[in-house]
Amino acid sequence: MSRQFFVGGNWKMNPVSREEKKALVNTLNSADLDPATEVVIAPPSLYILPLKDTLKNNIQVSAQNCYEKPKGAFTGEIRRVAPQLADAGIPYVILGHSERRKEFKESDELVAGKTKAALESKLKVILCVGEDKDQREAGETAAVVNRQLQAVVNVLTPGDWSQIVIAYEPVWAIGTGIVATPEQAQEAHADIRAFLKRQVSPEVAEKTRIIYGGSVSANNCNNLATLPDVDGFLVGGASLTAQFVDIINSKR
Ligand code: G3H
Repeated sequence: MSRQFFVGGNWKMNPVSREEKKALVNTLNSADLDPATEVVIAPPSLYILPLKDTLKNNIQVSAQNCYEKPKGAFTGEIRRVAPQLADAGIPYVILGHSERRKEFKESDELVAGKTKAALESKLKVILCVGEDKDQREAGETAAVVNRQLQAVVNVLTPGDWSQIVIAYEPVWAIGTGIVATPEQAQEAHADIRAFLKRQVSPEVAEKTRIIYGGSVSANNCNNLATLPDVDGFLVGGASLTAQFVDIINSKR
């Protein structure tokens, strides 16, 4: 079966100026983007609504995080329900990014709880998983990724997976310029699909999009985009440049 190609741009804490943001929006709005690819930009929360209003409607907007609790006094958190994300027409949220796991000590269980909560609020989730350098060198890649995913499997129903895009992001490849080789990416993605088949269902394994993130650029995206189990990309640094257009169009 064919899965729609998905390219996300995770702007993290960028851009640093409003002019830079305007330039990025102009680049995207004037580009000829492959209509067959689903495109999502995740800006810092301050820019979510302005971007939603200024980007053309072939580009969706995502949050980079949201809180598990539906409401209350949680300074600094972003609310997943009205009027903040879901009811403001923001379709996606990124959860489980390795920077959240490492810098903000988000456990597998917290990521799973946030995933369930986001789905309950009708947000779709870009769920990030991936091993660090030591874990890869110790041959623990599949075990780490399976553990991260199992926490989510434990709290979801099989039907929930239609609202999830899994982003495999090896930590050693994020922001380093060291991209996974096509063999490494294909192996990890195939392992994730096999895990979903075993732990959820063959149908979910077949339908779930598994995208790759970690130093994706205009130079390496074409090779990766042809791999059978790579259904798109989650892009950091290169999503802040005109290269992002080439990455979106890498399946053309
Ligand atoms: O979410 C995106 C990833 O962290 C990838 O970042 O493309 O700068 O390596 P990068």
